[in-house]
Amino acid sequence: MQQIHIQGGKLLEGTINISGAKNSCVALLPAAILCSNKAIIDNVPDISDVYYLEKIIEQLGGKITKDNDHFEIDCNNIKNTAIKEEYSSKLRASYYFMGALLGKFHYVEMYFPGGCNIGLRPINLHLEGFKKLGAKVINQGNKYIIKADSLKGNFINLDFASVGATINILLAAVLAEGQTIINNAACEPEIVNVASFLTSMGAKIYGAGTSRIKIIGVKELKSGYTEVIPDRIEAGTYLIMGALIGKKITINNIIPEHIESLTSKLLESGAELEIYENKIIVSQNKVKNAINIKSQVFPGFPTDIGQPMGLYMTQLNGFSTYEETIYENRMQYTKYLNQMGANMNVTGQKLSIIGPTPLKGAYVTATDLRAGATMVIAGLIADGDTYIEEINHILRGYSGIIEKLQAVGANIEIIEI
Ligand code: EPU
Repeated sequence: MQQIHIQGGKLLEGTINISGAKNSCVALLPAAILCSNKAIIDNVPDISDVYYLEKIIEQLGGKITKDNDHFEIDCNNIKNTAIKEEYSSKLRASYYFMGALLGKFHYVEMYFPGGCNIGLRPINLHLEGFKKLGAKVINQGNKYIIKADSLKGNFINLDFASVGATINILLAAVLAEGQTIINNAACEPEIVNVASFLTSMGAKIYGAGTSRIKIIGVKELKSGYTEVIPDRIEAGTYLIMGALIGKKITINNIIPEHIESLTSKLLESGAELEIYENKIIVSQNKVKNAINIKSQVFPGFPTDIGQPMGLYMTQLNGFSTYEETIYENRMQYTKYLNQMGANMNVTGQKLSIIGPTPLKGAYVTATDLRAGATMVIAGLIADGDTYIEEINHILRGYSGIIEKLQAVGANIEIIEI
């Protein structure tokens, strides 16, 4: 079994290059199978979620040629087969093959996707969208069969601006007959990335990045190219780390506009940020004002940075609050931070924090991906040794995390026990 071992308390200095966005890439890879020729994707992050998506594409007959972060996917021989549960259950985003296979073959057989245990995470909006396009959904235990004689464009209003449902419906609709409108669509940058990839293949998509997306179905999608956008959540995680323990850290290869809801809160709390076109330089805060945050859909404060931000708040002066509005079960990490010395109280989806509290190294668990990254930063600012269990969650979504942190001077390593 692997653990992460950290000796904390050391100021960090240097440059961290941000990788391609996990939540974009996990949709771009399934989207690639919609094309009938070759799909090229650059800036692919080195994370285990990508590994399992590759396995699924290969199972479907796609041939992947890689050169570091450059992926070429030959889609000439893509066939429709039931996706193995051992792959689809490894990550939530395997559900994007539902939309892609439905769009391409009008038939999908797959098991309910896995992913982080951060809430109920139903997929009713995805399935309702497929039904509006003319599909029939059959649910047998944890297996879904989704089929259609033909797919026809329709008006689809999402009850909630779901990222997954917006992308999945987009994937199914690009080859459907006629016009589809997705109303109350999610506006996250990852959706724009997927839409521009599909457009490069010949899809007709208008309004991606707004809450109303129009899709005019086309008969075929040919070759496509895209570059994965920088991971705004990875960037945010390291930015928070820099504000806590940075001597001078440059967070490079980012789009600062994608994380303005975070940088504005960091500035409000007294963080020292120099914001440039594609990088931010951050040093440890001198001023530490308490702040209040509520997670929201983009461009609001992202739920995925809520846990690192909760840790940050433990080091601010006085009473800070955080309210989680997207997921029901994203507060498990507070138990471990309290063991390390934090003063965090959870009431329902509301978290109140009294700071600043020095943290002491401890044995902790990565209960999910972002909680795991939070434990890493907690270990870096804590006095003494921290050991993190269940690190597979962290490796699912943070490309080269150990190497990147070692490069800025962190005492961090993976150990076998
Ligand atoms: N929801 C429904 N029904 C649906 C779909 C969503 O009720 O059919 C609810 C969910 O239960 C949740 C909320 O809507 O309460 C948000 O779900 P959304 O569909 O927007 O999220 P997602 O597509 O499942 C993606 C990211 C998440 C990120 C959210 C919000 C991927 C693979 N995952 O999830 O990323 O939190 O969007 O931005 O893209 C993470 O990276 O740590 C992570 C959890």
